[in-house]
Amino acid sequence: MSTQWNPDLYLRFQQERTQPSIDLVSRIELDAPRAVVDVGCGPGNSTQVLAKRWPASELTGVDSSEEMTAKARRDYPDRRWIHADVRDLPCEPRYDLVYSNATLQWIPDHETLIPHLFGMVRGPGALAVQIPLQEEMPVRQAIRAVAARARWMGLMAGISRLVVGSAGFYYDLLSPVARSVVIWQTAYIHEMDSHASIVTMLESTALRPYLARIDGEPERHEFLQEVTEEVSTTYPVQTNGHVLFPFHRLFFIAYRQ
Ligand SMILES: C[S@@+](CC[C@H](N)C(=O)[O-])C[C@H]1O[C@@H](n2cnc3c(N)ncnc32)[C@H](O)[C@@H]1O
Repeated sequence: MSTQWNPDLYLRFQQERTQPSIDLVSRIELDAPRAVVDVGCGPGNSTQVLAKRWPASELTGVDSSEEMTAKARRDYPDRRWIHADVRDLPCEPRYDLVYSNATLQWIPDHETLIPHLFGMVRGPGALAVQIPLQEEMPVRQAIRAVAARARWMGLMAGISRLVVGSAGFYYDLLSPVARSVVIWQTAYIHEMDSHASIVTMLESTALRPYLARIDGEPERHEFLQEVTEEVSTTYPVQTNGHVLFPFHRLFFIAYRQ
C-alpha cells in the first residue's frame, strides 16, 4: 500500500473534518481579502468554506498530493489548484490570507515553516491555522501500543510522531512579527456509532503511515482490528450504544502590520 491520500475515504467524515475550518474562518477579522491561499487544501472542502465567506476573493488551493488536487479540480473546476509542497512556494507577500486547516501536523520543523507561511502574507493580512492535537489523544496511544507489539514492531520501526508545538511555541514565533496573535484550543466531541468508526475516521489520516508499512490486505485488516480492540478499552460506550470521541484542536490567527 502506498502512502497516497484517499480523498473519498477522507470525505466520509466530511462534517467532522470541515467544522473546525468553518470555526476558524468565522474568527478571521478581514473584510475582503483579495488573494487567499488554502495550504494543504485536500479535496477542496476547506477551500469551499473560504469561498462561502469571501465569494469575490481569488482562491488558490495548494496540496502536495496529486490525488487530492485532482479531486479538488474535478469538484471545483473554477478555482486555481496547485500541486506542490508548500515549502517550495516562494516566501513572498502575495496573499492577504494564508489559511491552513488540518495540515501542518504533517510537515516537520515548524520553527522554519511558520515564518515561511507568515512571509507569504502581505499586510494587513493574516495567517490562520488549525492543527489537530492528536498526540494528546488516547487513540494515538492505542495505535502506538499496537504498533509496539512483537507482531508489528519490526514493520513499524521509525514512524515519527506528528510534530505540533504548544500554544506558547506559536505565540513566541509570531508575536514579535505580528500586529496581534489570537490563539485558542478546543475539543470537538464526535458522536461515533462504534469504536470501529473511530478507527475508520483515522484510517485516511493518522493511520496512513502505519498501514503503508503493511503489505497484504488481510494483515492490514488484522492491524486495524487490534487497534479497534485497544481503542475500545479507552473510550467508554454511552447508554445509547454510541461512543464519544473527543478530538482536540489548536487554532491561531496572526495579523500582519
Ligand atoms: C488532513 S488533509 C486536510 C484537508 C483540508 N484542508 C481539510 O480541512 O479537510 C491534509 C492535507 O495536507 C496535504 N499536505 C501534507 N503535507 C503538505 C505539504 N508539505 N504541502 C502541501 N500540502 C501538504 C496532504 O496532501 C493532505 O491533503
